[in-house]
Amino acid sequence: MTSGDANFIFLTCKRESTPLLKDEMALRFPETRFSYSRPSFLTYKLPGGASGKSAESLFDRAGKLIFPSSVSLSLGKISAPAPDDMPQRFAEFMKGDFPEKFLPFAETFPAPSRVHFWIPSDPAPTAETAAQAARLSEFLPEHIPAPFPFLPPREGELCLDCAAVSPTEWHVGIHPAAGYHGRFAGGYVPLVIPTDGTSRAWMKFEEGLRWSAFPIGRGSRCADIGASPGGGSQALLARGAEVLGVDPAEMAPVVLKNPDFTHLRGKIGQLKRKLFRKTRWLIGDMNVAPNYTLDVFEELTSAPDLEIRGLLFTLKLFQTELAKNIPEFIDRVRSWGFNQVKVRQLTFNRQEVMLAALKHPFRPKHSR
Ligand SMILES: C[S@@+](CC[C@H](N)C(=O)[O-])C[C@H]1O[C@@H](n2cnc3c(N)ncnc32)[C@H](O)[C@@H]1O
Repeated sequence: MTSGDANFIFLTCKRESTPLLKDEMALRFPETRFSYSRPSFLTYKLPGGASGKSAESLFDRAGKLIFPSSVSLSLGKISAPAPDDMPQRFAEFMKGDFPEKFLPFAETFPAPSRVHFWIPSDPAPTAETAAQAARLSEFLPEHIPAPFPFLPPREGELCLDCAAVSPTEWHVGIHPAAGYHGRFAGGYVPLVIPTDGTSRAWMKFEEGLRWSAFPIGRGSRCADIGASPGGGSQALLARGAEVLGVDPAEMAPVVLKNPDFTHLRGKIGQLKRKLFRKTRWLIGDMNVAPNYTLDVFEELTSAPDLEIRGLLFTLKLFQTELAKNIPEFIDRVRSWGFNQVKVRQLTFNRQEVMLAALKHPFRPKHSR
């Protein structure tokens, strides 16, 4: 049994962000109509008929949203009385409904060549979800042989999304593999903390650095504000960066013994600005309210003798209402001269979002 219409989208997100995503959709996609939700899963009806061109612009706009982990254009829902019947229903869907549902998009997108199968409320890939994706991929029009389920698709490839809202309710859709997160099933970046990793914060900064694609490498001068115990600094050090770690709390010994790391022990407000004269990149993770974080970064980026090229920091959403202020926070960072600013709730952010800001091209004040 299949049902559904091509002019729906479905979005997945962190369970606790479901109401935040609903608010964001009302603000950013007022033309869509909320249709149905489960924790971590929302569907919306699009106005008018779906076409390849409108889908392209939809994905473009949706790529700028903060709270979705994934956005898919719906091709339909598959349900069955028992979980064991689902692969058979999927096979029927691909033979029966799929060619017709895909037709309006066939001129714009290539045929799907990957299956992304995930459970929206628990999206970390498992051996079981990877095996399911491999089984379902047998039914793709353009099948790519194993070991594809374990390799992210290339930019521009089309993914067939299969969001298992429950063992007997799968939503099938498509999305082009664009942007960093679009390459992973459900937008979940499968990072594993290194054996010497000092904190979970390693994962969010490793993910943030990959997502921002900042050219931080050997010799890059960075400062990490709110650095203790040191996961974020480790992600920078592993790239060969030189790191000033600012925090009144202690750093992990493994970080302290790295010759490229210097601990500036204290609160950022107590330190002299000239210590950061060579710093080009600021990352930050202070457990303070967003306005305080922004005050700190504004002060540092506007100091006359500092030359900051990029920022990567968390904004803590201690109260969910703070999410409504994110557009204002983005405007504030732009007003400091950062012309590329983006915010996303990353796989490894909890009650917070990550902001990445860049001056591009970068023209140091003293060379103007
Ligand atoms: C979530 S922890 C940081 C985790 C760290 N980024 C990591 O990767 O392991 C927050 C840190 O912010 C620090 N902090 C809070 N206010 C600060 C300030 N004004 N200046 C510097 N550090 C601050 C706290 O001492 C605390 O260690």
